[in-house]
Amino acid sequence: MSNDISPEISIDNLGHEDRHFAPSPEFVAQANATPALFEAAKADRLKFWEDQASQLAWDKKWSQVLDWQLPFAKWFIGGKINAAYNCLDRHVLEGRADRVAYYFEGEPGDTKVYTYGDMLKEVSKAANALTEIGIKSGDRVAIYLPMIPEAAIAMLACARIGAAHSVVFGGFSADSLVARINDAQAKLVITSDGGYRRGAAMALKPAVDEAVKSTPTVENVLVVKRTGQETAFGAKDIWWHEIVDRQSDKHECEFFDSEHPLFILYTSGTTAKPKGILHTTGGYLTQTAFSHKMVFDIKAEKDVYWCTADIGWITGHSYVVYGPMINGTTQVMYEGTPDTPSKARVFQLIEKYKVSILYTAPTLIRTWMKWGVEFPNSCDLTSLRLLGSVGEPINPEAWMWYREVIGGNRCPIVDTWWQTETGAILISPLPGITHTKPGSAMGTLPGIVAKVIDDEEREVGNGGAGYLALTEPWPSMLRGIWGEPERYAETYWSRFAGKYFAGDGAKLDDEGAIWLLGRVDDVMNVSGHRISTTEVESALVSHPAVAEAAVVGAKDEMTGQGIVAFVILRGGIEHHEGEVLNKELRDHVAKEIGPIAKPRQILVVNELPKTRSGKIMRRLLRDVAENRETGDATTLADPNIMKLIREGLNSGKSED
Ligand code: PRX
Repeated sequence: MSNDISPEISIDNLGHEDRHFAPSPEFVAQANATPALFEAAKADRLKFWEDQASQLAWDKKWSQVLDWQLPFAKWFIGGKINAAYNCLDRHVLEGRADRVAYYFEGEPGDTKVYTYGDMLKEVSKAANALTEIGIKSGDRVAIYLPMIPEAAIAMLACARIGAAHSVVFGGFSADSLVARINDAQAKLVITSDGGYRRGAAMALKPAVDEAVKSTPTVENVLVVKRTGQETAFGAKDIWWHEIVDRQSDKHECEFFDSEHPLFILYTSGTTAKPKGILHTTGGYLTQTAFSHKMVFDIKAEKDVYWCTADIGWITGHSYVVYGPMINGTTQVMYEGTPDTPSKARVFQLIEKYKVSILYTAPTLIRTWMKWGVEFPNSCDLTSLRLLGSVGEPINPEAWMWYREVIGGNRCPIVDTWWQTETGAILISPLPGITHTKPGSAMGTLPGIVAKVIDDEEREVGNGGAGYLALTEPWPSMLRGIWGEPERYAETYWSRFAGKYFAGDGAKLDDEGAIWLLGRVDDVMNVSGHRISTTEVESALVSHPAVAEAAVVGAKDEMTGQGIVAFVILRGGIEHHEGEVLNKELRDHVAKEIGPIAKPRQILVVNELPKTRSGKIMRRLLRDVAENRETGDATTLADPNIMKLIREGLNSGKSED
């Protein structure tokens, strides 16, 4: 692992930013978060987390707050809880059945409104259906759905009966689905005929049909009818409406141990095999609910909150389903793309539903900047009162544009840093307290202890840059990698003994504010999605024309990073077949992993830069991909190689 860390973090990465934005007195006066939270967490961190856990409905209280056998944590031991009960039953029992949970807007413009009462009924029916199908507590269920209400209903139905869900983003290929289903040994797949994207019905079920040929554990496939497109139906397949609709809408839920697995979510690591990040129940729910309430300043009786993330990512789990639903939030859920049928779609929805809190990704903000201000300016955005950002570092220009054009210079911005592994936001401004700076995630939330350290584990201090590490366990931390305890210890806890290494570089400015500098390992961040260089490399070398491949994430104005692949072709394959081969390789990667992993550019080379021990020096390739002078190449086995690569690229026509 330590080899994966390139010593590339440079303090010069960052210009000096001296703009500050203080919260307005009006915001301060009504803010959920107050400085007392920090004081309480500082005085007694475990007691502080206990107080947050007490906000949830437990069937039985815990007897111990934390059991920390590094790197394995257990929280709220002995407590019994049900996630769906906290998201649904509790609201209905306390008189909030008529509050809207989701305003669903399909891409074609169809709409549906679900109150908390409706959601409880739908989830109860789905839970009864899962039971009839034979799903039990402890089983795993794969969910491969578009952004439709059934995605949240399916997740909560699993949680209700104690089955762990493993949501696979609908943009992943059949092959990726196979790997995830087999790793988790899922018994059931929940999917749909298709979903609407860019004005057309996109099929999903064929990928599942393809996948289940290679997934022996899958006994049934439950299929939601969304588009009505022609769909092949086999012996394992069951229509959602046929089994769910006839169930009772009452379901008595069982309470599970605080450490009962809630879900597995696969994410890319530094090897080709995705990691099944395991989250359990009590600690995860405590921290997602707490952070959602404080960071987004949720006033559930009046806010309309919209997190644009897909349910297939951790943001969709923590801040579309669990956190907001525990807090009784009214949300917008949108199925489609932001440019269909017009580039004003998101803004029209903000106006239509009077959205007050918007949580989105820098890549979309930069896309809006490119499209032009006429789209946001054509809509009334004055309902907005708070803006959030997640998934990648937000550049100060995008931050300022977000503030001025979308937020009308009135809304605080929360730039929230966290990961699939952390389960909940760990670093973020708190609106009403923090004076924000454009581009900085500012500081840790109460109850979280993070350090920026150098290679020797020394704290870098203000003005210094280094690696972001977490030094104390937190309730929503991952409990491990599914089935791979050693990989868990090795990946996260071995680089700096006893500390969680996040894989990100960070800088502390002169005032101690945290600036995230991006990944320092072989993980790329494309439009806020994590993709491993190794995973794309192994997809490329599985193509018969490719002998060797090296992939780097190169800076990209729109997507943060773009995937650039350097490939060596097998003997006898001519690279002047150019365009055709490029397209074929890009399509091959889309088939192996999913369209999100398609390289932006494929460069055919004769050699790759390697150290004497054979490790590819991606840093040098990144210099080429970003059109920079080549950096220090003294550790190369063959010092001439970079010259040859550049000469070869200049003479060949390998870009597409
Ligand atoms: O590099 C960091 C980046 O996204 C990584 C986590 O990716 P994932 O597990 O897919 O979760 C994304 C949504 C939480 C981190 O290691 N990242 C996430 N948020 C930020 C960020 N980088 C900078 N600033 C952020 N606010």
